[in-house]
Amino acid sequence: MASINRRGTIPHPTTGVGEHVDEVFTIGGFFGPWIDLFRTRNLAHPVAWSDDSLLYQGVSALDLAASSGPEVLPTEVLVGETVTVSLLRRSGSPAFAEKLVDRHQIRFYDRGRFLLETELGPLDVEAGDFVVIPANLIYRERPLDEDNLVVIFETGEPICLAESLWDSVGFAGMYIDYSEMELPEPLGEGVDEPTRVRLRYRGAWHWMDYDFDPCHDVIGWLGDPVLYKLNCWAIPGIGTTSGFLTPPANAVLWGADKEFFFNVLGPRPMPTTPAPRGSYGAPSHLNDYDEVWFNHRSAFAPSTNGHMWMLPRTIPHPGLKRPPEYPENPVRQIEELKLNFDTKEELRWTDTAIKAFFPDPQVSLYTSFYGAHIGVVPDAASAYTKR
Ligand SMILES: [Fe+2]
Repeated sequence: MASINRRGTIPHPTTGVGEHVDEVFTIGGFFGPWIDLFRTRNLAHPVAWSDDSLLYQGVSALDLAASSGPEVLPTEVLVGETVTVSLLRRSGSPAFAEKLVDRHQIRFYDRGRFLLETELGPLDVEAGDFVVIPANLIYRERPLDEDNLVVIFETGEPICLAESLWDSVGFAGMYIDYSEMELPEPLGEGVDEPTRVRLRYRGAWHWMDYDFDPCHDVIGWLGDPVLYKLNCWAIPGIGTTSGFLTPPANAVLWGADKEFFFNVLGPRPMPTTPAPRGSYGAPSHLNDYDEVWFNHRSAFAPSTNGHMWMLPRTIPHPGLKRPPEYPENPVRQIEELKLNFDTKEELRWTDTAIKAFFPDPQVSLYTSFYGAHIGVVPDAASAYTKR
């Protein structure tokens, strides 16, 4: 029996574009059974709703992140049972080292340079870098620029390299080159500096004092890469001859049981198949994961840098496609890059974030976020929307 069934009229391939909205519905993130629906109207645009959390909502991370001194705690934006997304702007070096006892983290450096001292040695980090720090390792983050922003993704489950997703198709070193990761080198100097370690355990902040600096006493280490730095611009954007590949196909890091995906999405290659079989952009879609998006850099609309969106499981994400066209030669790097963090855990916006929601999400989704999906400035994006 065929694994794919067809009923009714299929106006064009799922990769293509036409007068209908094509909506991908999946179970188990993008990994389980799926159907593709061709609709005459877009389910992502209701005319009324009982609660704003049912809709996609966006905020400006730069406006939301607190910045009131070196001891400031991150501003929590989205919270789940073991997953938290928070923002941090630091002014001045903190007087303490810190560790999260029960949370792993991906710290994405959106702007500014830092010296990140760790038990395994220091890392110099700059805009575009992201660092994986496993639970219970000590670090101290010293800002080197006043204008800085860190986006912190905390997870209860360990963070793994997503390279094993490619094992089944034989991609060895042809896609993400994880050998570009930078590992810290221990210093073994400046040992005797008394140090307070601020630690978070079971949701509460505690501290421990040492008469030495635990980020400076290690003289050597060996083992697996548990703490490392990568840069988002080193991650290739991927697509097909006819269009889109789902966000987890862009996975760089993930939870090994698919609890979450950390995806880096640069501009996709231009398809070589004309419409209606080919398209540029994403279909409408709905599944049982919550999606966090973060605009790191947008050449199309720099004013949207630092905008963050959460598209929940309660409503399809509207999708946006247009016919493909070739870009001009010579080939150039397009400074357009978004992070996407998909999680099986349900996330809720914090009260602080709710107060900062952009007005009218059905409009601001396009003006703030969606244009890059189809290679146009966000203000022009809604012209491609079908309601
Ligand atoms: Fe989405």
